[in-house]
Amino acid sequence: MTKASDLFTLKNKNNVEVSFIGRGGQITGIKVPDAKGEIDDVVIGFDTVEEALANDAYLGALCGRFANRIVKGQFEIDGEKFQLDINNGPNALHGGNEGFNMRVWEVAPVKDAKYAQAYKLTLVSPDGDQKYPGELKVDVIYGLTDENEFVIDYTATTTKPTVINLTSHAYFNMKGAGTGTIENHDLMLNAAKYTPIDGEIGTVTGEIADVKGTAMDFTEAKKIGEACNADDPQVKLVDGIDHNFVINDFDGSLKLAAVLSDPNSGRKMEVYTDQPGVQIYTGSHFDGAVKGKLNAPISKWDGVALETQIFPDSPNKANFPNAVLRPGETYKHTCVYKFGW
Ligand code: BGC
Repeated sequence: MTKASDLFTLKNKNNVEVSFIGRGGQITGIKVPDAKGEIDDVVIGFDTVEEALANDAYLGALCGRFANRIVKGQFEIDGEKFQLDINNGPNALHGGNEGFNMRVWEVAPVKDAKYAQAYKLTLVSPDGDQKYPGELKVDVIYGLTDENEFVIDYTATTTKPTVINLTSHAYFNMKGAGTGTIENHDLMLNAAKYTPIDGEIGTVTGEIADVKGTAMDFTEAKKIGEACNADDPQVKLVDGIDHNFVINDFDGSLKLAAVLSDPNSGRKMEVYTDQPGVQIYTGSHFDGAVKGKLNAPISKWDGVALETQIFPDSPNKANFPNAVLRPGETYKHTCVYKFGW
């Protein structure tokens, strides 16, 4: 049986190293060389497992059963109404108080020629877990290739119709966690549209809007700081970026969603996914009260999360992609973080 504090490490031939723990499959570190061969940890978090367990449990964790927000925690499937526990203002966030980020996943090594090293993480979420219907069986592969790709491969099945949206919640700082903000990072998003939010309901309005002419336009690489500091009502609402972007030409195949790079270190990360959306979150709620890696306070904009996903509140928005999983179907989701330097 895996324990919350068990620490696992994936390594490849180029000295890329991914570490995670049993609780939440929480990624506690990703070490990546820079242009000069110097290795830094590019994931916001803590130096020790004890601190990771004692602090923000979303940092690097697997989120589910439904990542991001469901308005008022309410949805309907086939005319049946469900009320989830509320844990974020008026809404349900990241699967509830005891979301998948709080669970101890069963972890076992797997052999697969694709990967330099890989682990399989398994979780059974019982029928009624956080008030979601159906027993959900979830398998997640964490695989690291010698091409410096960290692959997260999710599959899940259910015993009753339910809603599902799994993601991974690591915040990246390509210069190195604890070295300051990501304002000088360049970000490109393969997204001509995004889903605006509303301050009152605390999440997406249901509109799918053009990014053109707004701070949300990352169709050509630009500094994240330029967007975070923009005088734009959507930015002001969340003091930065906390928005779902609609990946161009979604068809269920693996597509480039984002490129994040840091001019100082020369490090770059490409994100690929077969999902329709990616949540870009610049960590505006970090207030510097807690110290993380390099003994530096974790402050707003110190890292950026790129969470591949179905859109927030999809169960209540007919124009958003389907998030209902039925018995006999298999939920599939692949996310690839590919590192370069
Ligand atoms: C959401 C934020 C939320 C954060 C919690 C992100 O995925 O987009 O709104 O505050 O998770 O860590």
